[in-house]
Amino acid sequence: MSKLETLKMLQELYIYRSFGFTYYKKREIAPQKPSASIPNSMDELKKNSLGCLLCNLCKTRKNVVFGEGNLHAKVMFVGEGPGANEDMQGRPFVGKAGELLTRMIENVLNIKRRDTYIANIVKCRPPENRVPTPEEANMCKPYLFKQIEIVAPQIIVALGNTSYRYLTGDERGITKVRGEIIDYKNAKLIPTFHPSYLLRNESAKKEAYQDMLRVRALL
Ligand code: URA
Repeated sequence: MSKLETLKMLQELYIYRSFGFTYYKKREIAPQKPSASIPNSMDELKKNSLGCLLCNLCKTRKNVVFGEGNLHAKVMFVGEGPGANEDMQGRPFVGKAGELLTRMIENVLNIKRRDTYIANIVKCRPPENRVPTPEEANMCKPYLFKQIEIVAPQIIVALGNTSYRYLTGDERGITKVRGEIIDYKNAKLIPTFHPSYLLRNESAKKEAYQDMLRVRALL
């Protein structure tokens, strides 16, 4: 009997004893299943995420915002996490920041938003739009990484500090790293400002525009 099986049996014995049992009849212990694997199809992955209870954000969300777009997209955008509008509609980037992102895609990249793929570091809205905690991001990242694997984009655009840091583990701020083209998984990663930041800081739009031109040149 393995150590794990012995521990499980001991645990069960304690439970039986706490119920008042004084002896225990040995029963077969089912062989350990291999650890749960994450589905390889986007539909299955989405179905799993819709019932996800892995972190506290599930308690306050209205909808899981899984992500959307073309499964063969060449470019993928990764934001931070859903805001109030996204939480209501279950879709990423549908508020003011989303409108700006859509304009950046359609007017600068010259492609339709629906031909890209858009997702977030976390799929459920952090209350008060706070930054997702490392625990929340780490619980959610396997979904995002599988989405990246399935879409296999040529280019990943990290929108803002949170996205860049949780994707790469690099603690440098977005103002430091934007302008770089980074090898990331099988893609090129372009860090740029988050559209919400651009709405508050008009002057940064020029640099974001240059970043989008960089994306266009790579396409
Ligand atoms: N901000 C994000 O980071 N993601 C969204 O989906 C919307 C706003």
